Amino acid sequence: MKPKWLVVILSSAFALFWACNTSSKQGVSFAKDIAPIIHTNCSPCHHKGGAGPFNLITYQDVSDKAKTVAEVTKARYMPPWPADPNYSHFKGEKFLTETQINLIQQWVEEGKQAGDTQSIKYPELQYYSSLGKPDVVLELPEIEIQGDARDRFLVVKNLGQILQDTFVRAIEFIPNQKTYVHHVNGFMLNYQKAPPKSTINVLNIESESYEKDFAKLNLLDPSQPVPQRIHSAFNYLPGVFAAAYPEGIGGFKMNKNFALICNDLHYGPAEKDTTDRSKIHIYFAKSPPKRPTKELMMGTNGVSSIKPPLVIEPNEIKTCRSSLYIPESISILTINPHMHLIGESFKAFVVDANKDTIPLISIPEWDFRWQYFYTYPKMLKIPAGSTIHVEALFDNTLDNYNNPFDPPQRIQERTDLFGAGMKTTDEMLQFIITYLPYELGDEEIEL
Ligand code: HEC
Repeated sequence: MKPKWLVVILSSAFALFWACNTSSKQGVSFAKDIAPIIHTNCSPCHHKGGAGPFNLITYQDVSDKAKTVAEVTKARYMPPWPADPNYSHFKGEKFLTETQINLIQQWVEEGKQAGDTQSIKYPELQYYSSLGKPDVVLELPEIEIQGDARDRFLVVKNLGQILQDTFVRAIEFIPNQKTYVHHVNGFMLNYQKAPPKSTINVLNIESESYEKDFAKLNLLDPSQPVPQRIHSAFNYLPGVFAAAYPEGIGGFKMNKNFALICNDLHYGPAEKDTTDRSKIHIYFAKSPPKRPTKELMMGTNGVSSIKPPLVIEPNEIKTCRSSLYIPESISILTINPHMHLIGESFKAFVVDANKDTIPLISIPEWDFRWQYFYTYPKMLKIPAGSTIHVEALFDNTLDNYNNPFDPPQRIQERTDLFGAGMKTTDEMLQFIITYLPYELGDEEIEL
């Protein structure tokens, strides 16, 4: 009788051979493994006319850039998604799992197999939102982008007039120079009568005379009440298009006389002089929204104060907090954390009346370049008697490579109500919450 161990060794050797053989035959291929990852997480920005500097769609595109693609995904530099997906989830989130990152590495190491490229189903790439033909198109003034390879932050005022007061379902920013327009946070001002004209409509946030010039925007008119302000009336980030909430939800009133202010129009570095002429699309609602959204703003200029006050001494690392009690149940749709350059990390959560925690968002490494408006997959109920907590870490040392000053200087919160606090060298801590008063069944409504 043969010794038993020989059989064991023989069979495991065979298993080993068999395993090697199958893995080399059906190793990682573009068609089967890589294309689905790239099409979901990269192509929405990396297509012609999109924000990414080159295409990542076909085998050829990705294969040509394979080494950098492997590097930027391993380093988690791409896709840009600052929110921690282990903490909370959002609509349209772009995030690679460890397995997906490893697959890309393996694909490159194994020599970039194409696989059956005929079988690839290419995605339909969105160039604009799917909201259809706009009712009004506003063109921004022509903006010069110098080829000095520097970031540029502007405030741009656009006056508008329509025939009568109405309701809008969505306002959408349509970038012209998509490789340079990096982001916009826009608010709307509703005036009682025609707003005053201004001598200046485009301001560079970094300019020496910024504060004096800001006054020349003439947002406030002494001859009429302070205009109503809709904080996040529109916003844009590469790959993110205006989304309307389900029918009857959201939207806001637009007065006959209004102004749309691009409060933080960020242009990325350009190597050559060029110009931009972006647009704003306005979509009217057929009827007043059944459930108009409301906004809560915590922190700077908001309804809850910052403790300790947002003053960060040179070389100081400091945590600031803000809390807000919620007396009636609400349903949260969208949130927007906002800080400037010395922000280091951001967290928001809810503690309910039973002391249970509801996670809202965690951004372990703040990146001021990627300030998303995060929409939950379904409405998120915050029960009456809860408290919303915001916690932010600021790093005013030189270890923070975004620090605008060397040596570091005292950095302070700016609280001008009409936007003059947008200077990137001033600091802010804001948490903007778009919500509805809670109705039974809200937590089942997909957004
Ligand atoms: C939200 C839009 C967006 C998404 C999604 C996105 N990118 Fe990018 N990508 C950009 C922009 C904008 C740049 C150029 C500016 C920069 O480097 O930040 C860029 C730059 C790059 C670069 C060049 C980096 C360098 O240092 O030269 C690579 C490579 C890249 N992306 C790969 C990817 C891959 C792979 C994915 C998906 C896993 C992806 N990107 C997803 C917007 C995006």
